[in-house]
Amino acid sequence: MSFSWSTLPRPIVALAPMAGVTDSSYRQFIKKIAPEVIVYTEFLSTDAIHFGAQRTFKMLEFDPALERPFIVQIFGAEPDHFLTACKVIEQLGADGIDINMGCPAAKVVSSCHGSALIREPELAAELVASAKKAVSIPVSVKTRLGWDTHETLIPFCKKLVEAGADALAIHGRRYHDKFTGSANWDPIYELKKSVSVPVLGNGDIATADDAVQKLKNLDGVMVGRGTFGNPWVMKDICDAFRSNKQSIFSTPSLSFQEKIPFILEHCELAVKIKGEQRGMLEMRRHLNSYVKGFDGAKELRIALMKTDKFDVTKSLLQSAVC
Ligand SMILES: Cc1cc2nc3c(=O)[nH]c(=O)nc-3n(C[C@H](O)[C@H](O)[C@H](O)COP(=O)(O)O)c2cc1C
Repeated sequence: MSFSWSTLPRPIVALAPMAGVTDSSYRQFIKKIAPEVIVYTEFLSTDAIHFGAQRTFKMLEFDPALERPFIVQIFGAEPDHFLTACKVIEQLGADGIDINMGCPAAKVVSSCHGSALIREPELAAELVASAKKAVSIPVSVKTRLGWDTHETLIPFCKKLVEAGADALAIHGRRYHDKFTGSANWDPIYELKKSVSVPVLGNGDIATADDAVQKLKNLDGVMVGRGTFGNPWVMKDICDAFRSNKQSIFSTPSLSFQEKIPFILEHCELAVKIKGEQRGMLEMRRHLNSYVKGFDGAKELRIALMKTDKFDVTKSLLQSAVC
């Protein structure tokens, strides 16, 4: 059956797209822990796909048995490139396309990509329409509250929905906030009252209790940094939503020793997909997040950052607790 945002069981739990993080190994690892989580790629350039850049095509690879529904996030500002890129993505077997209209990075915004599109609502709508014209899979948008005010959120999103957007994910910060301050979810609840499509809220969820408290009238939540070093939070959130509890939840307090087999499984996935050297180099950011909160963690992190070998990593991790 083809994927649809509107028929997914509620509340939806999504792993936020994150450049340099949500590669195939992280997506598969999160799905092993919490199979119902919706996963996205990191944002990929429609210009690069249009021109056939091999590096970007590599980032489009996924395991259809382990990563569905598989959403590819794209960015760009050229409607013709959206047409070609979206067709390629659909042919590769993706279940959905998500358009990035929220990235605040200077390099991205200066090319009128990412959150710069919030100030170009006509172009933003044209990009959604181009994507919709190209494919039959759902097209969603991830954006922020606004550029320097959240007052534009509802009219902007209504325009995107009129152009065909099938779902919206909103990070509760403005472009101007970058990653500072706390996410403000109130405008997202207001938006949900004004649009007919599913709306996911995003920003500052670190625990299942945060997710339960923040969900309110929304269709689901999207979690990014809260998974760093704690991918288990996704299972906590799914369990909390499914059991319909309203009270305080806490991440199961796995000891570091109990986490080691999971961490090694994450390493194995990275090695299988990217080869040992690249896979283990890219695992460093995750190892840095996993190895925390116990005596000797700092020394262990320092030792782990010096190797790109799986076996060395394994014995370092195991010797830390033996
Ligand atoms: C390292 C990193 C990379 C990110 N890359 C992307 C991206 O490729 N596309 C996107 O829409 N948002 C990206 N974001 C933003 C996240 O998807 C999310 O909106 C933000 O981190 C707030 O959610 P959180 O508080 O749950 O982390 C990135 C965030 C981080 C920390």
